[in-house]
Amino acid sequence: MRTDTPQPVRLADYRPFPFAIETTRLVFDLSASATRVRAELAIRRVGASAEPLVLNGERLKLLSVAIDGEALSANQYAVDAEHLTIQETPDQFVLTTEVEIDPAANKALTGLYMSGGRFCTQCEAEGFRTITYFPDRPDVLSRYSVRIEADAGLPHLLSNGNLVGEGPLDGSRHFAEWVDPFPKPAYLFALVAGDLDVLTDSFVTMSGREVALKIFVDPGQAARAAYALDSLKRAMKWDEEAFGREYDLDLFMIVAVRDFNFGAMENKGLNIFNSSLLLADPETATDADFERIEAVVAHEYFHNWTGNRITCRDWFQLCLKEGFTVFRDQSFSADMRGAAVQRIKDVKALRARQFAEDAGPLAHPVRPSSYLKIDNFYTATIYEKGSEIIRMLKTILGADAFRKGCDLYFDRHDGQATTVEAFIACFAEASGQDLSDFFAWYEQAGTPSVTITTDYDDGAQVLTLNLTQSTAPTPGQPVKKALPIPVAIGLLSHNGEVLRETEIVLLDRQSMTVRWAGVAQPPILSALRGFSAPVNLTTDARPSDRYVLFGADPDLFNRWEAGQTLARDLILARAGGTPDEVGEERYADALGQALVDEAAEPAFKALLLGLPSEPDLALMSEPADPLALHEARDVLRVRIAVHLGDLLRRLHGEMQSAGAFSADAKAAGRRALRNACADMISADPHDENLSRLIGHYDASRNMTDMIGGLYPLVCIGGAAREKALGKFFDSWSAEPLVLDKWFAAQARDPNADVLDRVMALTRHPAFEPTNPNRLRALVSTFANYNPARFHDPSGAGYRFLADQILAVDKFNPMTAARLVEPLGAWRRYRPDLGALMRQELERIAAHPDLSKNVLELAAKSLT
Ligand code: TRP
Ligand code: ZN
Repeated sequence: MRTDTPQPVRLADYRPFPFAIETTRLVFDLSASATRVRAELAIRRVGASAEPLVLNGERLKLLSVAIDGEALSANQYAVDAEHLTIQETPDQFVLTTEVEIDPAANKALTGLYMSGGRFCTQCEAEGFRTITYFPDRPDVLSRYSVRIEADAGLPHLLSNGNLVGEGPLDGSRHFAEWVDPFPKPAYLFALVAGDLDVLTDSFVTMSGREVALKIFVDPGQAARAAYALDSLKRAMKWDEEAFGREYDLDLFMIVAVRDFNFGAMENKGLNIFNSSLLLADPETATDADFERIEAVVAHEYFHNWTGNRITCRDWFQLCLKEGFTVFRDQSFSADMRGAAVQRIKDVKALRARQFAEDAGPLAHPVRPSSYLKIDNFYTATIYEKGSEIIRMLKTILGADAFRKGCDLYFDRHDGQATTVEAFIACFAEASGQDLSDFFAWYEQAGTPSVTITTDYDDGAQVLTLNLTQSTAPTPGQPVKKALPIPVAIGLLSHNGEVLRETEIVLLDRQSMTVRWAGVAQPPILSALRGFSAPVNLTTDARPSDRYVLFGADPDLFNRWEAGQTLARDLILARAGGTPDEVGEERYADALGQALVDEAAEPAFKALLLGLPSEPDLALMSEPADPLALHEARDVLRVRIAVHLGDLLRRLHGEMQSAGAFSADAKAAGRRALRNACADMISADPHDENLSRLIGHYDASRNMTDMIGGLYPLVCIGGAAREKALGKFFDSWSAEPLVLDKWFAAQARDPNADVLDRVMALTRHPAFEPTNPNRLRALVSTFANYNPARFHDPSGAGYRFLADQILAVDKFNPMTAARLVEPLGAWRRYRPDLGALMRQELERIAAHPDLSKNVLELAAKSLT
């Protein structure tokens, strides 16, 4: 056990920093294991108090410290493991520090580190303090100028803002000078130095300014950045049209790196990306990769306004930039790829990740009130639920008032570090609505349950709707208030005609009754259309009502949802020992009809073919029995594969495209449907189906089709699996991003021998635990997407995960911590499994020298 108990940071303790850092001059003398950083901070005391100057700094070797050019003697300052403190300072002065750091030894991938021979940085949230002494908090904004000196073998020297000088130095060294005219917090600082290829273009903004666009990648990879570049230009244009936001520097750069803890980072003018979210061509990337690249390039670009021009006062306000920016990137993707399909995918991700988080020990509000390590709060709740809150705001206010509120926010808070309160106040003011109740969405954790029952009066032709809501207790919040929940409701007749168009009912108290007159026939309720609020809905609908919605709801989200609910109930019934065989046949029939609907797009049909995922099913059954759920789900898959065999084979053939590859949404939709058919067909692996799948895999000419063929063959197991995996490895062993897919395909393998195979893969020469992409491809995929095998009754799956967490925590706490969540759900599982999960959490928590990151999550998961 650790002997020191780390103290949490609390929102209630927020105090402004007593000094302003007007300018920050940084001089980097780069060298792999001894980089020198000189910082000159022009500091002015704000306010009258005589507080000392306390700067953050960790893992720094302090070489010198001076005020106004005079070196301080040892008794004029104090250094501990986390701070530099100077008790007495003038009111206005220049502080100069010089430190030495060791980027080559930095495997935590925060601060300044090396990836593939190049220097790069990751400063959000608190990495800057491992580069130099500084007030490393988002409300201290400063103007930066940066000089980088390095070997000529690192030809590109990049930082934020505009390049103002470069040239040779003595020996084989050279330098570059950068100035960023926009004041920014330290977490947006970035530096990259290395040998890179660059893809260049330009964009003319709405006011006619020309912006140079540059994407830097590994030598030889520039062609693979073309899709990211195209996405960037579309995002820049879209932000001008949808939000009136224009880019503000003359240069916008993106750099791709292989070793990165997260997806990407919005550093001012110099975004840094995980190469998996930037590099793509049809041979090596799937349609899902293209789609994520488009979304993440847009996300990071949109941060230039929602995050950079307006930033967060403190890290409790993280959703201010992340929730809003996710909402903006989801809206962009909806415009690029079709609103209904995009919404279904976003809701699937929300339920799989955020609803699970909200139902477990790590549940927290979108704006939390305390933390140990802020790194642990880059969660689905902050991001995805944060986005849902903005979406509800738009639904409640209407598009025009929403846009007015946004305009006011951008206008009023430009250049500031602000709060969620200030943001919401802009919408209240612009719309004239009182939003004080709405604010509870930010402060209350947990997924609300909404129940709707209906009562139809034939004679009076009146429909009565009874709506109620409740939210179960979450850690630290035993009592919940009612929230304002926008519920979009429409009515259909029994033969699927529209009886009443969509209307938003605002359920803003614990229960309410709504009466709709003039309803001419007994209606079928289509509620929570478009998933108008992040809640769990229960209604008194009968299966026959759901079949009407599944066949005819004009709201495509609810059409899909009706199918999912039917399938879910059938799987849960079978897993619970009461299978409904007639119902299963009926479901397969209805699915077959939906698949031949000429009016529906292939991308939508592909989603209809996907059964609810095993993690989603686990969330719906208490206590969860993953193996029983897996088997029950498989029975329904087999039934569909047999019942619809001819149709699935026909569609699989029809969706094959002969022409040149196109990455657009329409072509991707056809590939998605073909691959969904292949996946379903694999549930019935007789000779004809097996050779069809082998043919699919062998003939695939792009990565989408190849993965679409590989995974069914892996599921079938035996010789088909070995042959497909062997061929894949031989073709792609030199392509790291594709090799990640090879590891992931094996981690998802549902066959009973998979745990041994996954453990053996950790000894494969290509397994690199220091690379987060590779680590997650194997370990996180197994723990999150293979529940039937992760939850092995012996507990060996849990032990494997705990061993991995402890090993990775030694060098990369942030990434280790992100592996804890699957164990944290122990209370929701069969008691014998839950006890074994808990045991592994206890083993982790008791480990000496645990990082704060892992300690916080393990401890919270246990209480
Ligand atoms: N701000 C980044 C984003 O959402 C997230 C991020 C990237 C991050 N790297 C990080 C967060 C490291 C914490 C730590 O776009
Ligand atoms: Zn973000």
